[in-house]
Amino acid sequence: MPETLSSNRPSEPNGSDRRRSLLMVLATAVVAAVFVFWSGWPAPSDGTANAAGGGDVLVATSVCEAHELRAQKEEYPGIEIEIPPEFDKQWPSASACESAVAAWDPEAEGPIQPIPFSHKHHAGEFKIDCLYCHSGTDKSQAAGVPSVELCMGCHSQFPSEYDQIEGIQILKDHWEEKKPIEWVQLHRLPEHVQFRHNRHVQAGVECQTCHGQVEAIDKLHVVDDTHIGYLVPVAKLEMGWCINCHRQNNQQASQDCLTCHY
Ligand code: HEC
Ligand code: HEC
Ligand code: HEC
Ligand code: HEC
Ligand code: HEC
Repeated sequence: MPETLSSNRPSEPNGSDRRRSLLMVLATAVVAAVFVFWSGWPAPSDGTANAAGGGDVLVATSVCEAHELRAQKEEYPGIEIEIPPEFDKQWPSASACESAVAAWDPEAEGPIQPIPFSHKHHAGEFKIDCLYCHSGTDKSQAAGVPSVELCMGCHSQFPSEYDQIEGIQILKDHWEEKKPIEWVQLHRLPEHVQFRHNRHVQAGVECQTCHGQVEAIDKLHVVDDTHIGYLVPVAKLEMGWCINCHRQNNQQASQDCLTCHY
């Protein structure tokens, strides 16, 4: 429903939100009742329920909404849309808008991050190299996540329309307040385990072997191991998963306890 596009931030279930959603339900019921009265039941067969109320015009209030309304118009040519000139822009792209929503989809696997940052958009569509943002992986023990400064290296040059994406606004707020972004960490080995990215990366093990098709995922999560060599599916980060691959790479990788524990 285009009338409720304004914010895609998943809301915390607190009292005022619940009251608000109750009000929304009531309001929707009233609107629906008026609509049924006015248009006559049943609704028109071409699915253009939105326009059937007698020339309601759906007005875009952001570039992202404009993209969405154009897409709806294509699907339901009967609806009336209006795109004010300030929102009739190519950027942010429709796919940036979609990824920002998908990266905050509460239904999708993985934690909600402070910013709806999409790997599919950055590493997939725009082909930004993993190592550009995770520069630690080829040289040091930790891969690390990029700094606010690195994000802003690109985003400070983008036109102001991008501020209509809530995630970009949050990024800029952190930049102004000189605060780091508190990304929720996904992969975390216990203290007693030694793991180094650089040895694996140098040995030619691809990021995707261990982390899945990151460049195709909007909202990151830990993927399961697809390898069932011993007919036992193992979760990533379990000891069996490490050992399994070390066994397959017997020449290079050791299964000695002290390789990983010391
Ligand atoms: C190398 C340049 C570059 C860097 C670095 C970069 N971005 Fe982006 N970002 C882009 C481009 C390009 C787009 C998409 C533009 C479009 O399609 O309209 C984008 C889109 C976005 C969007 C909207 C789509 C989405 O992914 O949700 C957000 C939010 C975002 N960036 C946040 C960040 C954050 C946070 C960082 C740092 C961790 C960052 N970006 C680093 C280039 C960059
Ligand atoms: C052999 C499997 C493996 C490969 C290959 C691999 N990773 Fe990881 N990655 C891990 C494990 C295991 C952890 C958890 C590390 C920990 O908790 O100490 C991790 C953690 C991370 C983290 C979290 C932050 C951090 O530093 O711990 C990032 C980011 C990351 N990997 C990115 C990458 C990128 C980018 C590549 C490719 C250049 C890559 N990884 C290749 C297994 C792998
Ligand atoms: C534009 C910067 C950017 C690029 C390019 C990028 N990442 Fe990331 N990556 C991030 C940010 C920011 C996070 C933390 C937020 C999240 O988990 O989505 C992250 C998180 C991760 C994590 C999870 C770390 C954890 O918490 O355990 C992995 C794994 C990872 N990236 C792998 C990759 C791989 C593989 C590629 C290349 C295909 C890649 N990234 C490209 C910025 C980037
Ligand atoms: C997809 C295959 C693969 C997986 C999964 C894997 N490894 Fe490895 N590992 C290798 C290879 C190959 C080497 C040998 C690299 C070299 O040439 O030194 C290696 C080497 C190592 C080394 C010795 C080199 C060093 O860093 O000192 C340690 C320790 C290690 N791995 C720990 C782990 C742990 C812990 C895990 C699981 C969290 C893991 N590995 C998962 C392939 C893998
Ligand atoms: C290739 C790396 C690797 C090797 C080799 C390895 N381990 Fe582990 N080990 C791990 C990882 C990763 C974990 C953490 C698993 C987890 O958190 O689920 C672990 C956990 C453990 C634990 C703790 C289990 C628990 O429930 O917390 C013990 C005990 C252990 N290993 C013993 C050994 C012994 C004994 C050997 C030699 C026979 C060995 N490991 C060889 C990677 C390795």
